[in-house]
Amino acid sequence: ADPVRYEAESATVSQGLAESNHAGHSGTGFVNYTNVAGGYVEFTVNAPAAGNATLALGFANGTTGNRPLDVSVNGAAPTGLAFQPTGAWTTWSAVTTTVTLKAGVNTLRATATAPEGGPNLDYIDV
Ligand code: GCU
Ligand code: CA
Repeated sequence: ADPVRYEAESATVSQGLAESNHAGHSGTGFVNYTNVAGGYVEFTVNAPAAGNATLALGFANGTTGNRPLDVSVNGAAPTGLAFQPTGAWTTWSAVTTTVTLKAGVNTLRATATAPEGGPNLDYIDV
């Protein structure tokens, strides 16, 4: 099936703020992670059936360093993903991985693991 987009600015956020001051984002904005480890954006994702799904995370990283995130589904052991520099805060890219979902409601949390915090997170496509 076609992926469904979930906007970060509509998700549950801890240690981050929905902002819109960098052009080119999807929806009405993005989440600016506070520059600490431990901030997260949590999405509620509905899956029609159990199984693997492609997860794409739209982001920008206007710095010169990685802004890694741990992605955890339903509280399971996380997968660490690198979010490398995109060249500017207005230049948006996507990182793709595979997640295993259960049928129905799933919780997908993307947690910053570096002291600099995460990238600016725009959306996930599932
Ligand atoms: C800048 C930028 C923010 C970004 C931040 C960061 O302040 O405007 O959007 O989140 O850098 O380094 O995390
Ligand atoms: Ca930030």
